[in-house]
Amino acid sequence: MCGIVGIVGHSPVAPLILDALKRLEYRGYDSAGVATIEHGQLSRRRAEGKLVNLERRLKEEPLDGMIGIGHTRWATHGVPNETNAHPHFSDGVAIVHNGIIENFAELRDELTADGYVFTSQTDTEVVAHLVARELARGATPVEAAHNTLKRLEGAFALAIMFKGDEDMIVGARNGPPLAVGHGESEMFLGSDAIALAPFTNSITYLEDGDWAVVRRNSIAIYDMDGNKVHRKRQQSVGTSFLVDKGNHRHFMEKEIHEQPEVISHTLAHYLDFAGGKAKAFEMPFDFASIDRLSIAACGTAYLAGLISKYWFERYARLPVDIDIASEFRYREMPLSKSSGAMFVSQSGETADTLASLRYCRSGGLKIGSIVNVRESTIARESDAIFPTLAGPEIGVASTKAFTCQLSVLASLAVRAARERGAISADDERTLVRQLSEAPRYASQVLKLDQQIEKVARELAQVRHVLYLGRDTSYPLAMEGALKLKEISYIHAEGYAAGELKHGPIALIDESMPVIVIAPHDRVFEKTVSNMQEVAARGGRIILVTDQKGAKHATVKTMETIVLPDVPELIAPIVYALPIQMLAYFTAVFMGTDVDQPRNLAKSVTVE
Ligand code: M6R
Repeated sequence: MCGIVGIVGHSPVAPLILDALKRLEYRGYDSAGVATIEHGQLSRRRAEGKLVNLERRLKEEPLDGMIGIGHTRWATHGVPNETNAHPHFSDGVAIVHNGIIENFAELRDELTADGYVFTSQTDTEVVAHLVARELARGATPVEAAHNTLKRLEGAFALAIMFKGDEDMIVGARNGPPLAVGHGESEMFLGSDAIALAPFTNSITYLEDGDWAVVRRNSIAIYDMDGNKVHRKRQQSVGTSFLVDKGNHRHFMEKEIHEQPEVISHTLAHYLDFAGGKAKAFEMPFDFASIDRLSIAACGTAYLAGLISKYWFERYARLPVDIDIASEFRYREMPLSKSSGAMFVSQSGETADTLASLRYCRSGGLKIGSIVNVRESTIARESDAIFPTLAGPEIGVASTKAFTCQLSVLASLAVRAARERGAISADDERTLVRQLSEAPRYASQVLKLDQQIEKVARELAQVRHVLYLGRDTSYPLAMEGALKLKEISYIHAEGYAAGELKHGPIALIDESMPVIVIAPHDRVFEKTVSNMQEVAARGGRIILVTDQKGAKHATVKTMETIVLPDVPELIAPIVYALPIQMLAYFTAVFMGTDVDQPRNLAKSVTVE
């Protein structure tokens, strides 16, 4: 969740580190810091809050030095303040860290007993002191780093720098990603290739348990036993993008508007529109012979998976188990080799999703993953990847990645349906044509912005919102609630409309807006009955429906947002947009930090 950068360079590195940290700010933005070695001494600047504060600090008091490490933090242990900001120092050792040191309390007690004084509340500081203690005991810097790594439990990525050695950073990875970038007589370390894009696209990814001694003209990678290992150097693709909002106020707004285009690219990758078929890609498992599909993911990606359960079961007659990855990884589900396993992740780095993938792999299952970052750990550990072609998603709230995940999953469901003999060639042609229309409908929905903004103005006045939906609109109701909470901080819940009377109906009164997502589909009449129940109790309904639905809904609403009539298959893709726009405009009215909402980070590499 935090971002790490290290540079062993041949010009002052602080401005370069700051530039790389800007690209990593999506990983955390509670505080940030940079340390360099200037005139043989370790120096650092740290600042609470966003990177602009660190930038200001560096302007006031610049740092010199041709070697340095930097960090942008998402707090796990200790509040986000300057004292807890990285890099952490101990007797000539500087450290930046991403992840959690699980045995830190035990190590802290041991170090305290040895006379080490802790100045922060972080788990990271134990690592700095452990390395320093090894040095004090006579170890070389490389030995000190290696001996320390062997003591650490948990998931971590680290970069360590030593006073007196201006040609070496030690990097280590056990869980969260860490990449080495190769330059001309300079080397880089970064949490991902995006951070290193301005410097190099020649990248070596460390694997779990690897640690590396990175110097200007060499890199040596070892395993935990100290054996040298070889990791291939590769050309990173698609990382030199400009992180730019264009004419939009926020990345989220830009990403919402990019959807017609990126959905179109993604669908074209998986579907042969002219031939009316789902394309036959290399598959990790055979849809025709598996008897179940197991999907695990987190947050919005989980909700995309939940929508796909309806598609795989309805069109392909393939039963789907869908799990929240943080639950799946520990619930000891018996694995059957006749199942396929699929993971969905924008970043491809989410710790719980990755652990679930590894659990399935250990059970001998073949793995497919739907990822947006093709060079991510989840992608690299899968037997086959199904990329979403959403392009970099910078806003913390996932928007275009979600609709692209849905586009991939719908395409795969059509393919599974064909391969399992559940649909005819004509049916397949119809479904492919329907999918091909999704980008056009998405463009039309974007034009409803004024009406949606008007509704958002009302929502910005309330503290609680309920979202209801049935069938594929039920996960979408949860996605609407998730989006609203994360960026506007308004409490929201998404419920299956039929579940209302089993509890949540007690919440309904005149102050509670209820957003009902109800295309005129097979369950529309049932949803109308649930709306009646809300209306009878004075609830204020905001109905998101289509032209047919607006005509047939016999309930008084506070507002009806009317979308075009769309085929049932693509409704979740199209209806995702008004839901995102509603959350976006509400957050703008609330004046929150839309792209970097409080307490969140884009990539969640800790448990
Ligand atoms: O990178 P991933 O898709 O694995 O991330 C999963 C969730 O952390 C993510 O979808 C999160 O829920 C979003 N902030 C929601 O907008």
